[in-house]
Order: sequence, then C-alpha cells, then structure tokens
Amino acid sequence: MILYTCAELSDFIAHQKLQGQTIGFVPTMGALHQGHLGLAAQAMEECTLVVVSIFVNPTQFNKAEDLVNYPRTLEADTELIHQLNPDILVFAPTAADLYGAQIQAKSYDFGPMATTMEGEFRPGHFDGVGTVVNLLLRAVSPDKAYFGEKDYQQLKIVEQLVAIEKLPVAIVPCPIARNAQGLALSSRNARLTAAQRSQATVVYKMLKKAQDCFEVQDIPAIQEMVKKAFDHEPQMTLEYFAIAPVDTLMPARSKIEKTSYRAFIAVIVSGVRLIDNMQLN
Ligand code: PAJ
Repeated sequence: MILYTCAELSDFIAHQKLQGQTIGFVPTMGALHQGHLGLAAQAMEECTLVVVSIFVNPTQFNKAEDLVNYPRTLEADTELIHQLNPDILVFAPTAADLYGAQIQAKSYDFGPMATTMEGEFRPGHFDGVGTVVNLLLRAVSPDKAYFGEKDYQQLKIVEQLVAIEKLPVAIVPCPIARNAQGLALSSRNARLTAAQRSQATVVYKMLKKAQDCFEVQDIPAIQEMVKKAFDHEPQMTLEYFAIAPVDTLMPARSKIEKTSYRAFIAVIVSGVRLIDNMQLN
C-alpha cells in the first residue's frame, strides 16, 4: 500500500494502533538500495507494522543543483520495498502536504555538534533534517524509528531532536551496508561510473587504515597519512577527515582514555560528494 497524505496516514496508523500494532518507521529520500532495505528488514523484525517514507526533502539541500539532481524513482522504490515485504506501508507525501504553506526549515539549537563536519560543510543542513524528521515522526507516530550509522552525525542530531521535541519514539541505530569492495552504499553512487566507484573505495581503505593504526599512532599522524593519500588522487577532493569521540562528535587532536572514537570522512569524487565513517576502538 502507498499513502500520499498525512491525513490518510494518521487515520490509518491510529486504527492500527488500536489493534495493538507496534509501528516501525524508516525515513528515506528514495533511490533505495540494500542499505535502506537493511533498515526496513530490521524494522520488520522488531515491529508488527513498518512504514517507509520516501520524500526528497527540499529544506536539507544546501546546494540547489544537488536537490535538482537527486534521483527520484518512486515506482522502482515501491517495487523494491514490496519485494522485501508486501505488507510494508510506503508513505510518499508532497512537500505542500507535509510542510503546509511554509516549506522552510525551523532553526534548532543542536549545540556545537551541528556546526562541525557535515554541519560545517553543509550550512543549514541539520536544521532541514531536524525539521523534516520532526514532521515525519509526528505524521507516523512510530514506536521505533531506524537510522543508518552511515550518516552518524545525522543519527546523533536526530537523538537530540527527539529530546528537544519530546517525541515518544526510540531511535534505533543500524550498521553501515557496504558493497564487496567496502564502498558504503549510497544513492549518490549511482552517479559514478563503475571505474569511479572502484576509485572511491579508497575512502573505505583510508578509514580501515585509520582503524588499524589507531592504537599505535596519534591523531595528527593519522590525519597526515590520510591527507597525503588523497594528495595522490587528483580526481578526488578531501573535504574533511576527522577523528572524534562518538558522544560529542567534536574533532579531536589527542586521545582520552576510555573514550570511544570514530573516524569521519567526506570526499568529492568526480563531482559527487560521498561520506563515510568507522568505529576506531
Ligand atoms: P537517505 O539518504 O535516503 O537515507 C535514509 C536512511 O538510510 C538514513 O538513516 C541513512 O543513514 C540510511 N542509509 C543510507 N545508506 C546506508 C548504508 N549504506 N548503510 C546503512 N544505512 C544507510 O538520510 C536521509 O535519507 C535523510 O536525511 C532523511 C533522514 C530521510 C531526512 O530527509
């Protein structure tokens, strides 16, 4: 089943809740791949009714061309979801229906976490994500909502959003799905040629290298190694490589004992911006 409006969805969900269903929710922007389907599969295991939303959110794109170029493949997406499980409900609202008259982002105070890494390179992005996730969570009112660690900073921002908006939902983190070469699956990979996709695996290889030497090398040395590797890749531009504690996401220069760290990277490969991250210890 596909529903296109918040009103229809709310009615349907209210009815399902009365019948004792537990609702799992997977928000997406479509152009679905196995990473998205992994989230939906996990939701199916833990909930009795799963909703996958497909909505290309205009307020989270800081570049107009990125919004225009974003793939829109609702029919193929719906087919993929229903191949996974025909009982999954697809929610595909229009911007006017979801936002009402004002299609604009709210301004949130997510603290310093929102202005580093993705926040630094994509100004306004997290306000747009926060705004749409708030609207979607209110429309779906799920018991659990599933977010990929692929967008780790987004996951942490959404955890804050739920506290700020006092939403009664559990946020469930899901592991990163990768292809056989290690490249993190992303809707944007479709814009790369096979050769470019193979080049892009250097992003994964660098994260893996950082993980391998994290115990024995200090952070600036690891950063230098990664920077040098990308100096030798003329078709790729390293936007940032940072190592940060998982709870604050503030990029660190030195390690503190008993702290859990992740490495974060953003690279532009032939005009396509890719992000990835990996647990280090
Ligand atoms: P989108 O990029 O479509 O991603 C939807 C969800 O799938 C996010 O939680 C994302 O982290 C997860 N995901 C994407 N690729 C993944 C991979 N390789 N492995 C595991 N999970 C993966 O993220 C968004 O959309 C939007 O910002 C959204 C939250 C829907 C708000 O508009």
